[in-house]
Amino acid sequence: MKKLKCVFYGIPKDMQPYVRKKLRGFSVSMKDEPLNEDNLDKKTEVLGVFVDSPITSNTISHLPKLKLIVTMSTGYDHVALTIAKRKKIPVCNVPSYGENTVAEHALALMLALSRKLFPSVKRVKEGIYDYHGLRGFDIKGKTIGIIGAGHIGMHLVRMLQGFDATVIAYDPHPEKKLEKKYGFEYATFDRLIKTSDIISLHVPLLPATKHLINKKVLKKMKKGSYIVNTARGGLIDAEALVKALDDGTIAGAGLDVLEDEGLVADHEDLFGLQNGEKRMRLNLMNNMLIDHPRVIITPHNAFNSTEAVTRIMDTTVENIKRYADGKPQNDVTKK
Ligand code: NAI
Repeated sequence: MKKLKCVFYGIPKDMQPYVRKKLRGFSVSMKDEPLNEDNLDKKTEVLGVFVDSPITSNTISHLPKLKLIVTMSTGYDHVALTIAKRKKIPVCNVPSYGENTVAEHALALMLALSRKLFPSVKRVKEGIYDYHGLRGFDIKGKTIGIIGAGHIGMHLVRMLQGFDATVIAYDPHPEKKLEKKYGFEYATFDRLIKTSDIISLHVPLLPATKHLINKKVLKKMKKGSYIVNTARGGLIDAEALVKALDDGTIAGAGLDVLEDEGLVADHEDLFGLQNGEKRMRLNLMNNMLIDHPRVIITPHNAFNSTEAVTRIMDTTVENIKRYADGKPQNDVTKK
């Protein structure tokens, strides 16, 4: 049988031997950098990427032999799904590699905000051992609102049980029986945003959820509340968030993701941009968030634990093997 040609982009160097070994029997090629128009391999049959490699309709049309896309992530908003569907190319994701991993990161951001961890550490590193001006607040007794009570959101709900906080969640598909089990309550979106002291986002980025947190919603949020986003940057209107931080509606934000974060990572892209003016403005807002004293940002790092990355690789390899056996799994084009 002919070996399928698998081309991966951005697999961490330390994981490459592991993946090669697991894919013995396939033709495997690995590139350290994310996918771009200059490093496409025309012979690619199986394309493997992380979220920092957008698979556009252009990418797909330049890969005449493409049979399968495997994304080493849960989210798949970086893949031109409609085109893949039209061309009958399955797009397989990793549905639940690390609900605890991302939930733990969200909790880390929450605690870092509540205890002013970043400015505290920075101050001590700068040689100033003084707590004045660094007073935080307790999570105990606060209302935490989880938007999107799926795998990750529910894991966070479970972890928050130990904090003596009131936990509420909004999800269009509530599982009422979980309320009693995990000590939380489902709420309407409106009630959640009006009453939560901290909101944490765990919904996929879809056309319906783009800028879910916008100017109108931010205005309704409890004054002095906090927002944590480990899901996708596009869920928040960055410009509206900058304004809400400046007028004091929002006290602080902990973000692991930014809208159009590729542009933040690679400034070269600023030259010859499509949709230049709009994206330049967004880039400016992102940089205002990065520089904001009450915002902490991590570089889309919530997934990145040793255990989770190993689970991601294992499921990705399994996705490829199952496709090769004619029994594809985790194909999101079938959703
Ligand atoms: P999931 O599919 O288990 O849960 C998503 C939940 O959101 C579902 O229960 C769904 O009903 C709900 N939902 C859909 N539309 C909604 C809306 N408009 N309002 C409220 N809830 C809505 O997904 P999972 O595994 O919990 O992941 C959530 C997101 O986290 C992913 O889509 C991905 O974008 C992001 N993620 C980020 C990572 C990072 O490294 N920062 C790593 C992994 C996932």
